[in-house]
Parts: sequence; structure tokens; C-alpha cells
Amino acid sequence: MIIERLAPSVAVEQSTSVEHSSNASKRSNGSYSLRARIPCKVNLFLEVLGKRPDGYHDLDTVMTAVSLCDDLDIRPRLDTEIRLQVDLSESQRLQDGSLDGEESIGTGDNAWKIPSDPTNLVCKGLEALRQRLGIDQGADVLLRKRIPSQAGLGGGSADAAAALVLGSLLWTGRWEPTIACEVASRLGSDLNFFLEGHNGVAYVARCSGRGERVQPIASKLKLWFVLAHPPQGCDTGAIFRKLKETDQQACNASGSEQGKRSPESLMSFLSAGDTVGIGAELYNCLEKPAASSNEWIERTASRFDRYNPLGHCLSGSGSARFCLCRTSEEAEKIASELRSFRDMRVYTASTWLSPSIPAQTERLNLGS
Ligand code: C5P
Repeated sequence: MIIERLAPSVAVEQSTSVEHSSNASKRSNGSYSLRARIPCKVNLFLEVLGKRPDGYHDLDTVMTAVSLCDDLDIRPRLDTEIRLQVDLSESQRLQDGSLDGEESIGTGDNAWKIPSDPTNLVCKGLEALRQRLGIDQGADVLLRKRIPSQAGLGGGSADAAAALVLGSLLWTGRWEPTIACEVASRLGSDLNFFLEGHNGVAYVARCSGRGERVQPIASKLKLWFVLAHPPQGCDTGAIFRKLKETDQQACNASGSEQGKRSPESLMSFLSAGDTVGIGAELYNCLEKPAASSNEWIERTASRFDRYNPLGHCLSGSGSARFCLCRTSEEAEKIASELRSFRDMRVYTASTWLSPSIPAQTERLNLGS
């Protein structure tokens, strides 16, 4: 029985039967399960401001969530274990269910090497959350992956953010934003975007610090993208270690005709709905270090150049690249042509419009 169909991004269900009995442990309490659908992100702008004493880098980045999604199901256990099962059966499918043509792509890369042990950020998040809540209840978790890893799309962070929302609901019957956001900022740089980066309509935000300080941007724009993930991923830590101060100056100096690209210009184009302006402001200073360690970065950029989109850019530390399209039809056409090379994962996606996670969950009281 669905008690709330909150929004495409987080649908919370309560069922009287165990839906995934194959993965549910005999020790599961099958009384109900909670489900979240969580988008990934692309960075429309990413500047590194400098290295910090703790080894991280201070960022100035603008991110938007897009409609390539994972699903997370969670149900209570009678014991204290947290068990995760990762389901990759939909990883070769697009949002509309059609094959994305990657049957032979990336068989040797890390895109779908998703751990199901305590090293997965979902498990780390749930463990940190219950410690912070002072409880010892367990959970069975099912993670359906569609977002490739080592892509710069924030899939692991999105999954962990969803786990914090659903863990909070599962174990306390309430959404605990302050606690969840505090736990999120300790776990990684991108989780807080998925918890706090919402403007009431869409997830679009300017993020600073390591990325965990989140300021939503007033934009309701539906943007159309093609995401291309090559068969070789990028390790985030390795890309940041390769970054030299000269990389960022050299990269931004080659910005748009109006001069250097800036988050302020990008944000004003986002607010004004100027997609041509947005395309011209796309920028990521990690392009150069990523390209120096992964030959696919430049190859993917050359592919996008052929189709003259509004702009294209690396997402995060790569290796996924996205292009901004004028229409959904243009996105489908570019995606279809890119798929014909049969050497990259290719997805069409649009900005993910939905109520914020707190707005969706605040109406829930599972105890009532
Ligand atoms: O935060 P996350 O776990 O995604 O970061 C992975 C690695 O990327 C960090 O261990 C760090 O080496 C690097 N990183 C960084 N500065 C950031 C974010 C990540 O140096 N703002």
C-alpha cells in the first residue's frame, strides 16, 4: 500500500508483504519498506579555489540534478545488521527502459563495481546516522544502480543521501534534517547537495567549501542533456592530486568571448532561462588533470564537438561528459549517434524537477 507518492525523486511506500523476498533476510521485519528515487548531478561550473590544510580543495561549483536515477529500498531488521544488496540488472537501461547500447561497453572498467559491503557509502551513511541517533537497529537495503561510478555524476553520494533520508524515517519515524545534513557533510563532498540543494522546484545550487556548503539557485529551467561515460573512469582523489594551480588559470582564461567564465554569469543565465548563455558558461577546471590521466576525456569532447550543442563540459572529476542541448529531440539525436560508436555509455537526461526531499518527507509520520 502506498502511503505517500511524494514525488518522482522520493516515493515512500509501505507494504504488507516482503516485495524482494530473494534479498530479504529471514531475519527481516517485513512489515514495511521505504523507497527513494534519487537523481545524479552534473557540474555546470567548477572552479578550484585552492588546497586546504586538510588535503581537500575549496571549490566554487554550480550543480544541477538530472534524471539518471538510482533507487534505494530500505526495510527494518529485527537484529542490528545493516545488509546491502546491489542490483545491476537495470544498469544497461535508460530511464525509458530502452537499451542504451552498452552491451559490450566497459566490461573491464569500474562503472559497475559497486561494493555491497560496509565500504559502500550507503552502509557508511547508515552506520554514522544510527551512531549519531544513538540507536542500534538494523536494516536491509536494496540499491538498484543506473548511475555509473567513477563518472563525476555523484551517484555514490546520491545513494548515501537517500540512505540518510530513509534511515532517518525508518528508525525515528521522522525526517531529521539537522542530524542528516551534519552526518552528510562528514561522509563526502556532494551529499549535502542532494539533501539541501533544492530551490522549491529543482535541485540547482551553488556549492562551496569542499562542496558541502550549499546555496540553492532560483531557477526552474528544464534543460536537456546528453551524458556520455567512457569505458575508463576517473578516480576523484587522483584527479585532484594532479591539479596544478596553472591548470585552473589556463583553463578559465580560454573562456567565453565575453571574458572569463563565472558562476555569477551562469547563475544569471539560469535565472533568466537563457540556455545559450548557460552553454557558453559551462566550465570545469578539472578538465586538464582529468585529460592528462584518461585519454577518453578529449576523445569524448571531440565527439560532442561534431554535433554543435549549446556547450559541453566534464562533470565533476570525470570521466563523464555532458552536453547541453536545445531540445529533447536534439538530445535524442545526439545520443543516438553517439551510441552508434558502441564504446561509451550514453544517456539522455533533463533537469530533475520535484519537491525537495525535506518537503516531501515532512508530511510523513510512519508511526501514525
Ligand atoms: O568527498 P569525496 O569523498 O567525494 O572526495 C574524494 C577525494 O577527492 C578526497 O579524498 C580528496 O582527495 C578529493 N577531493 C578534494 N577536494 C574536494 C573534494 C574531493 O581534494 N573538494
